[in-house]
Amino acid sequence: MRVRPIINSFDLQKRVIELSKVIEKDYEEVYVIGLLNGAFMFVSDLSRHIRTNVFVDFMKASSYVGDKSSNLNILCDISLDIKDKDVVLVDDILDTGKTLSKVKELILSKHPKSLKICVLLDKPSKREVDVKADYVGFEIEDKFVVGYGLDYNGFGRNLDFIAQIEI
Ligand code: IMP
Ligand code: MG
Repeated sequence: MRVRPIINSFDLQKRVIELSKVIEKDYEEVYVIGLLNGAFMFVSDLSRHIRTNVFVDFMKASSYVGDKSSNLNILCDISLDIKDKDVVLVDDILDTGKTLSKVKELILSKHPKSLKICVLLDKPSKREVDVKADYVGFEIEDKFVVGYGLDYNGFGRNLDFIAQIEI
């Protein structure tokens, strides 16, 4: 499969560090919850550059279409207790918003003190559900991308840049 880079490794790292520094200023202590598998690389780099207390945990969910609406299967829940904690939910990309709006509800049911959303990429033109990210790395157009955790049928997660797929 051929790929065409749209965000190179240098720009990616630079932006991730910028986001880390903003989060670092916003919290004395923060609970970072990443969504697997896509956010694994982003969470790793993001948390590494936050120089305050950071607790890291992951959740793995898969969405499926039920009778009328899509539902969320939680394959692996977090084990940290986030009650009364400041939480930042981290995903690779905000697309239709269906996944994050459902995961957000689930996290809120655990009664954190606060909850914000951080995504590396945002495709605002694809939004179907009203959910906004508080921290956004890059806004991109409606093209399918891989790299830095994002995949196409498992391909491309390990790339250290973001690329469009050329079929
Ligand atoms: P949403 O529920 O439509 O917002 O979907 C978000 C999820 O879809 C992300 O967590 C990704 O796993 C996946 N996704 C959406 N767009 C892309 C893309 O361009 N490349 C790879 N995965 C994507
Ligand atoms: Mg995902």
